[in-house]
Amino acid sequence: MSAAASSPIGVFDSGVGGLSVLRALRTELPHERFVYVADSGHAPYGERDDAHVITRSHAITRYLRDQHGIKALVVACNTATAAAIRLMRQDYTDLPIIGIEPALKPAAASSKTGVVGVMATRSTLQSQKFLALLATLQDQARFVLQPCDGMVDAIEREDAIKKEALCSAYTGAMGRFGLNDGEMDTLVLGCTHYPFVEPELRRCIGEQVSLLEGGAPVARQTRRLLAEQHLLAPPHAQGSGVTFFTTGKADMLANAVRRWLQLDAPVSALQIA
Ligand code: DGL
Repeated sequence: MSAAASSPIGVFDSGVGGLSVLRALRTELPHERFVYVADSGHAPYGERDDAHVITRSHAITRYLRDQHGIKALVVACNTATAAAIRLMRQDYTDLPIIGIEPALKPAAASSKTGVVGVMATRSTLQSQKFLALLATLQDQARFVLQPCDGMVDAIEREDAIKKEALCSAYTGAMGRFGLNDGEMDTLVLGCTHYPFVEPELRRCIGEQVSLLEGGAPVARQTRRLLAEQHLLAPPHAQGSGVTFFTTGKADMLANAVRRWLQLDAPVSALQIA
């Protein structure tokens, strides 16, 4: 299937987290159509080895390209971006691929106290890509890194008690949040699932701390790339239709789509091998 401006944009994540990126994409690109794949049947990625994430990322990219003729791919997952995007770009040279990484640079630039908290999956925080980014910013801020095992699973399952407990435990372990000297005044959400525990995090860190997520910059980058390649849908295109697929339970993704995107859309379950 060959891609054209009228072709859809593929978006995938290990689960429902990428909906936080899709939300920004739909706002930035209202004339586009999207195909979203939640790989919930194989989540969480962040507590598995790189080989698993690379294999899954390849399988989903192949599916989106071959079955939906996508014109671009948004990897709406920090963990998959860190583990697999370099290899994916080597293998799909004709497909524009946009990834996401924790917003360390804007955090270092905007923090007044110079202390920045970073919550992400264990795998993202251990990745070469993340460590290289961190190394370039060491003299600009002090970063407090927190791997959040179990958080993706709690968000996928909508487990209210576990979400609250994990947010409290992890922010507590990181130290003091606030606007005073030595306190973290900025918290980077380095996993696309975490915007969905914003209320729980706010209860722990207060209202004044800046929360940074990566959806909007990714959406702007997607627009730039499509414009460069003359692949933007024309302004009269109907757009904003999303087709949803999951390798997990269809009702779980449908509920998340209703809750986070205010969309009542059909969701199909499928196997991607
Ligand atoms: N949303 C994915 C991310 O941004 C979660 C990875 C996982 O499944 O652990 O890293």
